[in-house]
Amino acid sequence: MPTYYLTTPIYYVNDKPHIGHAYTTLSCDVLARFKRLDGFEVKFLTGTDEHGQKVEKSAADRGMDPQLFTDEVSQNFRDLTAQLNFTNDDFIRTTESRHKSTCQKIWRQMVDAGDIYLDSYKGWYAVRDEAYYAESEIVDGKAPTGAPVEWVEEPSYFFRLSAFQDRLLDLYESNPDFVGPKSRLNEVKNFVKGGLRDLSVSRTSFSWGIPVPDDEKHIMYVWLDALTNYITAVGYGEDQHDEYAKFWPADLHMVGKDILRFHAVYWPAFLMAVGAPLPRRVFAHGWWTNEGQKISKSLGNVIDPVSLAETYGLDQMRYFLMREVPFGSDGDFSHAAMTHRMNGDLANDLGNLCQRVLSMVFKNCGEAIPAKPEQLQAADNTILASAYALLEKNRTQYDTQQFHEALKSIWDVIGDANRYVDEMAPWALRKTDPDRMADVLWVLCEVVRVVAILIQPVMPQAAARLLDQIAVPPSERAFSLLHGGASMAGGQGINKPEPIFPRYVTEEQDAS
Ligand code: MSP
Repeated sequence: MPTYYLTTPIYYVNDKPHIGHAYTTLSCDVLARFKRLDGFEVKFLTGTDEHGQKVEKSAADRGMDPQLFTDEVSQNFRDLTAQLNFTNDDFIRTTESRHKSTCQKIWRQMVDAGDIYLDSYKGWYAVRDEAYYAESEIVDGKAPTGAPVEWVEEPSYFFRLSAFQDRLLDLYESNPDFVGPKSRLNEVKNFVKGGLRDLSVSRTSFSWGIPVPDDEKHIMYVWLDALTNYITAVGYGEDQHDEYAKFWPADLHMVGKDILRFHAVYWPAFLMAVGAPLPRRVFAHGWWTNEGQKISKSLGNVIDPVSLAETYGLDQMRYFLMREVPFGSDGDFSHAAMTHRMNGDLANDLGNLCQRVLSMVFKNCGEAIPAKPEQLQAADNTILASAYALLEKNRTQYDTQQFHEALKSIWDVIGDANRYVDEMAPWALRKTDPDRMADVLWVLCEVVRVVAILIQPVMPQAAARLLDQIAVPPSERAFSLLHGGASMAGGQGINKPEPIFPRYVTEEQDAS
């Protein structure tokens, strides 16, 4: 069985999960589900990044011991995975002992390779970004990200990042798909071409981190610690490392655009230093704003993904986030855009198609899917062919993380199916040619089957209800059944169809 290993960033436990976190994990959940349905053995990892100054400070602000604090906040992220129906196979915490030992192991390997040396760091540090900045990057006394910076002078171990410049440039040159979307590759290349300074990889002025082996005054830089989670979770360095052999290198690290540099520059350099294979791809998605405004705690406009799901429906929210914005670009969340998608794409286009077709089948075909026609007409073959072509298209779109395009392709077929209903007018055929009516309704049920199977990654609950309605058993919902040869035989009894995609109605509209 082919394998697929994908990861989310691990989230800082300084605060509650918000829409940005949910978005990154959702995109991975959608991809993980797609790959499982397509016959892959998937490992989908998420978790929490629990060390460093930022988390230590948040714990202190709450007057809590950092371990107790991280236990509590990490649990919120774990709960979110269940609330949003995420199917991660593992949840890693950087405070676990499995992780501490992997970090110490790769540290020793880097020392043995001659890539770590002791010196002292003197320069700017932004706790909010957990990142070092050069004097030349400081703008109006702040980091280029707008984060406040502080001056740090302390003994520090350094990683010989400068020695990896050529190897990194070779990597981008020989493997242009290493970074997606394409536009971001240049950004990474230019950063590396601009020259790499050795990276400070230990701190001595606080203690919330993994101790450096043989020099316990130092703790590891939180990004070295955090990035290593991706190999900890597959058992790197353990005696029994079947998972490492099976899943490493990762197929995809999904990240937000703000943390691309860490994943596309530092992480491959660390792996080169220890002689481990490099991940196949890093994809950077964009950022959401809320009704046109940057999302920030100080503006008080942080979006809680759980309440969003309560307001609009979980699958509706999942659909919106994956469809509204070209994946990789920034996007704006607004109530108007959300209800537009919910009422247009879901209630009108897909919902009406299913409800119209299934009601006619229920009423006019003896409460059962009509038998598969012996002869199909040209219009039937056209619509069926475009439905069967979707899987191959979707594969390419998912492999390049173009989730919005994948949905758009499916909705193009839904649009064609709605036009086919109008043109064939099965309600008129009921009197004039009931056999043809049954054939048309079979074609439509078959298109609904293909569509329902393909939307499972994005809207798992709605798709399951739809597949239940057309009596496709759970054992027949994999992508291997998405071709003409596996089409419905017909004859399965169905229940009275209930609408699956409600319209969003405001209270005022409801009262009128
Ligand atoms: N702990 C690091 C990642 C370490 S991975 C080895 C981190 N954590 S984070 O909690 O700050 O952010 C996690 C993710 O949330 C990032 O991918 C970031 O891009 C994403 N988002 C945070 N705010 C966001 C939006 N407003 N919109 C979309 N995604 C955003 O960075």
